Amino acid sequence: MASLFAFDDVACQSLSETHGTPCFAYSGDVAEGQFRALRSALPARVRVAYAVKANAHGALLARFASLGASFDCASIGELKRVEALGLPPGRTFFAGPGKREAELRKALAMGVRIQAEGFEDLARVDALADREIALNLRVHPAFDIDEGNRIIGGSGPSAFGVDEEEVPALLAQAANLRHVRIRGLHVFAASNQRDASKLLAIHGAVLDLAKRLSERHGLVFEQIDLGGGLGVPYAPGQAPLDVQALGEGLSALLATHPWFDGELILEPGRFLAGPCGVYLARVVRIKESRGTRFAILEGGINHLLRPLLTGEPFPVKAVGKGTGEPSYTLAGPLCTSLDRLGEVALPELAAGDLLAFGSTGAYGLSEGMTHFLSHPVPPEIWVD
Ligand SMILES: Cc1ncc(COP(=O)(O)O)c(C=O)c1O
Repeated sequence: MASLFAFDDVACQSLSETHGTPCFAYSGDVAEGQFRALRSALPARVRVAYAVKANAHGALLARFASLGASFDCASIGELKRVEALGLPPGRTFFAGPGKREAELRKALAMGVRIQAEGFEDLARVDALADREIALNLRVHPAFDIDEGNRIIGGSGPSAFGVDEEEVPALLAQAANLRHVRIRGLHVFAASNQRDASKLLAIHGAVLDLAKRLSERHGLVFEQIDLGGGLGVPYAPGQAPLDVQALGEGLSALLATHPWFDGELILEPGRFLAGPCGVYLARVVRIKESRGTRFAILEGGINHLLRPLLTGEPFPVKAVGKGTGEPSYTLAGPLCTSLDRLGEVALPELAAGDLLAFGSTGAYGLSEGMTHFLSHPVPPEIWVD
């Protein structure tokens, strides 16, 4: 399993000299290693659909496609990127709480499986379709969810899916639709979870929910989509997700639900793409202010927004300098005091020093605010 940094100091130095900084670099081997580790641990009845939002780099998508991945898209832009891969039907999914008509048209034209997030999606697809369309219903479950960093929102109010308790009303409302048929269930309830038993507890609850829905409403599920949420370490000492335990747990769950003979789907983004990426940026200046030491970098939340959103920094090292005690507040070059990449322990820094941020292959540049202040968009280097 990958370390926190896909590239060692020598490689970081050489990438920075060849391509300039700031830049992102992605290791094809590490991405492939993540995919293979997960795929080989899972039962054959589990499909792996890479969540494109984590990182839509063309070479990364092509690598996952060549390994047999399916793809989870959430915008017309992502659908077009996946369309360019020329995949056979059945390997693309389309989710999202605010799908516009043009996006639904595109999804129908591509023959992708739509995750309906409410009655509006069902009705719009029904109106656009000229044939029977099988789709999945995304449900926001009522069961309690221990969601570490609440990116998905736990079990409180949610913009995603239809609330579990509203499903009967939705089904009654949808009864007269002519073309759409609910043939799958989609539930995504947790994010960045590295504890396989916690993921499995949610997956078990989803299968129980599917059973209740099929018994009470006669729904026949070809697919149960368990969403993403497979976590990665962001700090030394954090244990990686035990994919073997996850695979064994999913086999056991399938065995305890003999009524379900369809396929399970996992939609990992972070797990597959996170470890392959490194973000390289140099220190522009060091500043002391009222007892705080700032290292001001070439890039900030325009390239890495996640630390600000979650309060959790990406792992960082000072290339060629080893580890150290002094603590720095890492600030970016933007004109806002929100531009922070974390409080970190690093050795004595000076202008020109190269910093490498690990595990930035997912929700790195894809989540950055690249337009803010119009700094150049950093190059993304694919290393095979
Ligand atoms: C519908 C859906 N599937 C999959 C993912 C990927 O999640 P993760 O990167 O945590 O695996 C997301 C992330 O927001 C999502 O919204």
